[in-house]
Amino acid sequence: MMLFDMEKPQGFDPYEVLTKLVIPRPIAWVSTLSPEGTPNLAPFSFYNAVCDEPPVVLISISKGEDSKRKDTARNILATREFVINFVSEDLLREVELSSIAFPPEVSEFEVCRLREEKAYKVKAPRVAKARAWLECKLLKHEELFDYDLIFGQVVFAGAESLEVDSLKPVGRLSGKFCKIVEINQS
Ligand SMILES: Cc1cc2nc3c(=O)[nH]c(=O)nc-3n(C[C@H](O)[C@H](O)[C@H](O)COP(=O)(O)O)c2cc1C
Repeated sequence: MMLFDMEKPQGFDPYEVLTKLVIPRPIAWVSTLSPEGTPNLAPFSFYNAVCDEPPVVLISISKGEDSKRKDTARNILATREFVINFVSEDLLREVELSSIAFPPEVSEFEVCRLREEKAYKVKAPRVAKARAWLECKLLKHEELFDYDLIFGQVVFAGAESLEVDSLKPVGRLSGKFCKIVEINQS
């Protein structure tokens, strides 16, 4: 048995334990617009749905070593809206590329050669190639330790399909990616 005192970690990394035991995590590939109008795109796996009436998602965005707010959080706080693009197997290269810390004036859509598509209810663009997306408005922002917690109300959703076989979802599994497939219950 492996035992970890998560309040007084010694000889282990609590992040590693947490991300190896809370698995798999969905990935929010978040697109936003800066106040100056530059699109931004980045993945976040500390993410989940937390209410369904009304539908609400939560994304946790770390401030990092220099305690600097990430572009995604800054844009959401300024514009109060964002889109979560669904991550399928065919988009992994672009997801990884968009996680590089580019300066705010650089659009990850351009870096990743991804076409922008207009969203229905928010101004932030969505990833045209994503098989599904959730359009969100900022409901609540909390600062917890060195994290920006973003509660977004889902105001619109689009999907090519709601079937796992067609969506080919990918999750985060201990610093790697994983396929998510249905298992049959008998
Ligand atoms: C699959 C994946 C999941 C990630 N999850 C998170 C997360 O949950 N929270 C976070 O702060 N950063 C996360 N990151 C790192 C951000 O994507 C990265 O810091 C990015 O540069 C932020 O971009 P921005 O400054 O444009 O917002 C993740 C990276 C990858 C590849």
